[in-house]
Amino acid sequence: MRPARKVVVKGVILAGGLGTRMRPLTNVTNKHLLPVYDRPMIFFPLQALVNAGIRDILIVTGGNNAGDFLRLIGNGAAFGLKHVNYTYQRGEGGIAEALALAEHFIAGDRVVVVLGDNIVQEDLTSYVEAYKRQPAGAKILIKKVPDPERFGVVVFRNGQVLAVEEKPKRPKSDYIVTGIYMYDAQVFDIIRTLKPSGRGELEVTDVNNAYIRRNQMSYNILRGFWSDCGTFDSLLRASQLVARRKR
Ligand code: DAU
Repeated sequence: MRPARKVVVKGVILAGGLGTRMRPLTNVTNKHLLPVYDRPMIFFPLQALVNAGIRDILIVTGGNNAGDFLRLIGNGAAFGLKHVNYTYQRGEGGIAEALALAEHFIAGDRVVVVLGDNIVQEDLTSYVEAYKRQPAGAKILIKKVPDPERFGVVVFRNGQVLAVEEKPKRPKSDYIVTGIYMYDAQVFDIIRTLKPSGRGELEVTDVNNAYIRRNQMSYNILRGFWSDCGTFDSLLRASQLVARRKR
């Protein structure tokens, strides 16, 4: 069934938080401005959204260096954009808290959320188009990795996503939820119901589980390389992958 009105999909990049895991690299700058081979980290999620045909983009920043994003990206001319929107997250209350700041910008439309530290090789256009054909709900992009315990891990039953478990000690699969999420405007009502987790954050995994419980979650398996850059090792690996692609 096709949705009745034209589906508008906007983009949000979450580059808030304080990058405490990456100190001292993040003592005087924001994690998402650190280099991944030849470009600042934030360029990768931004390019991924632009390549997927998304032009209405909001960047959520935070910390002491938020102004540097404006100096670096401005209105996005280097990406063929006419305008980029920015907002500010105080502290690090979690991915879902950062996304809540986008409610006015999304204004009832749909959103592709990309975490500011995610590097993805594949063009996302086909996934976004498939999501637009979905009558409502959410889509996650998942990936098989060797170290699932670092991520939100997908629990399957008969090929269906039964739940997502955030950083479990004993992962029930090798498939993890990447930091690329597609949501309809229900997401903001869901976030309002969330309680902070053990690490004191509003968790995106709780958002995803709410959609799963509503039977409104679809998924695709990402091809090509994908990496976060949230640890020294993953930042190094992402830089090497990007460098290899360039050679
Ligand atoms: O990379 C994928 C993983 O990202 C998922 O598999 C996990 O389910 C999800 O929870 C997340 O895990 P991390 O522990 O790696 O998230 P982290 O706290 O490192 O935050 C990732 C990005 O989200 C960060 O680069 C900026 C943004 N963020 C994070 C927090 C905590 C914000 O904008 N604000 C925040 O308060």
